[in-house]
Amino acid sequence: MDRDNKVSITVIRRLPKYYRYLGDLLRKGINRISSQQLSKMTGFTASQIRQDLNNFGGFGQQGYGYNVDELYTQLGKILGLDKSYNAVIAGAGNLGQAVANYKGFEDAGFKVLSLFDKNPKLIGLKIRDIEIRDVDEMGDYIRRNNVEIGIITTPKENAQDIAEIYMKSGIKAIWNFAPADLKVSDEIVIENVHLNESLFTLSYFLNNKSDYSRD
Ligand code: NAI
Repeated sequence: MDRDNKVSITVIRRLPKYYRYLGDLLRKGINRISSQQLSKMTGFTASQIRQDLNNFGGFGQQGYGYNVDELYTQLGKILGLDKSYNAVIAGAGNLGQAVANYKGFEDAGFKVLSLFDKNPKLIGLKIRDIEIRDVDEMGDYIRRNNVEIGIITTPKENAQDIAEIYMKSGIKAIWNFAPADLKVSDEIVIENVHLNESLFTLSYFLNNKSDYSRD
């Protein structure tokens, strides 16, 4: 695999979509697919797909297409989905509870070990089997339980404080839902999820249909 050159972020952001479609194909028992067929499913052009996958060594064969099982497994490895990760959630309100409630993350290898909050009324409650603990205990808990991913679902005013606790206690990656631009050290990877931005983009296309494309 040629990994000397950095793969562009736009390519990386398409990989989860390929992975999802390949998983659907596997579940339907389809084990071979051409880039043209993948193009129809994903909305990306066939040459785009070939180029994207070539970044990682090009899994297809001329005249055959792609072996779905093999490509799915390889993409899973590239995305780091062949491992499992421990995560915690800071902020056990509406969104924090919803994230904890979704078993799909755990099925994909991302296990939420605990939620943390500062509201005494929430501390001690459980979401599925996941306990809500006092945020004051969060640093210690992270250090003792090999937690790599910290999720932030507190109000934006508290998000930087949570990020500081995460950094001090050895968290490696932050999945941030708070609408705040967090300052974190270079060793930490951070991914911001802003449903609002997606909604506002939808609104733009609703009002400017001629600009719309599925790519
Ligand atoms: P919420 O008010 O239901 O929950 C926030 C929770 O954080 C509360 O339980 C509160 O006690 C707790 N909290 C506050 N300060 C804390 C601290 N220092 N340590 C630990 N816990 C603390 O709010 P909701 O609706 O769940 O939203 C949470 C966050 O997610 C907000 O920042 C909101 O803007 C954001 N949000 C983001 C979305 C997105 O697309 N990224 C979508 C919806 C909400």
